[in-house]
Amino acid sequence: MSALDRIAERQLVVVTGKGGVGKTTLTAMLGSLLAARGRRVLLLEVDPRESLHQTLGTEPSGGEIVQAGPRLGLQNLQPAAVIEALVREKVPLAYLVRKITESAAFHQFVEGAPGLKETALLGYAYRALQSGHRPRFDLVIVDAPATGHSAALLAAPGLLAQAAQGGQLGDMAADLATFLADASRCGVVLATLAEEMPVQETLELITRLQVKLGLRPDLVVANGLYPVPRPGAAKANDPPRELLQARRRLNEAELARLATVWDGPLVELPLLPLGRGPALVEALAILLEEADR
Ligand SMILES: Nc1ncnc2c1ncn2[C@@H]1O[C@H](COP(=O)(O)OP(=O)(O)OP(=O)(O)O)[C@@H](O)[C@H]1O
Ligand SMILES: [Mg+2]
Repeated sequence: MSALDRIAERQLVVVTGKGGVGKTTLTAMLGSLLAARGRRVLLLEVDPRESLHQTLGTEPSGGEIVQAGPRLGLQNLQPAAVIEALVREKVPLAYLVRKITESAAFHQFVEGAPGLKETALLGYAYRALQSGHRPRFDLVIVDAPATGHSAALLAAPGLLAQAAQGGQLGDMAADLATFLADASRCGVVLATLAEEMPVQETLELITRLQVKLGLRPDLVVANGLYPVPRPGAAKANDPPRELLQARRRLNEAELARLATVWDGPLVELPLLPLGRGPALVEALAILLEEADR
């Protein structure tokens, strides 16, 4: 089974990797590819600096679901806003809701309770998959915050469930932890550059996911590879050939280092001379699908 076939069967996929390696671009690519396969896909962006919409050429989400194509929605979601919405759902009086959500104690609770924001975010994703939800999605892809936090993100509901020991919050967190532990429904995709620091973080994260959560990524994408310099006359504004060669050699050395630990599905994607936007996403998505066969 190809990695994309496996990802297409998931309900929740977390895309993670070090800062700037192409997580948001990869989230958009996966969304386009899987919506094209007939899945109803919601892309969730947590980063308050909205950029997901740019990759797909829509207006910014500003917290709402924006249609980015047939069966493809995207949404920028701030965990604190999710928790406020939950309070609004449970507390019937508007003035009381305001009193709660504007209080210092509430903000201390939201910021201070370990795993609460992460659980709220994943809980939101989980609800979007339920049959009663309108619109309902088959698959939610989370464009996760940088690497350091993604193992913690996935471990959060389990830890919160332990800490809360029952109650409405504890039960919700426990349900969510069970869902996340189901390897047939939830998966992780890692993005990296074939450079020293990102590969180092990727290797550490693969180990951490395995040890902490018993989880093996569905796919690792080595993004932004330098092209193999071709013989022939260089054009006037091409980068110097030696520089390209050196970059490419570095990429290959790092890919070899990655291969010493990761023997699962790996796709290499080139650095393309395109800016952030739908043309880049489409070109990379075609290459991803070809390489995944
Ligand atoms: N293969 C590629 N070829 C050319 N440009 C790329 C490629 N992949 C990503 N980019 C560009 O690199 C920049 C960073 O990509 P992206 O925003 O997807 O990374 P990110 O991991 O989400 O970053 P952050 O950690 O800041 O959220 C963007 O401008 C994007 O358009
Ligand atoms: Mg991003």
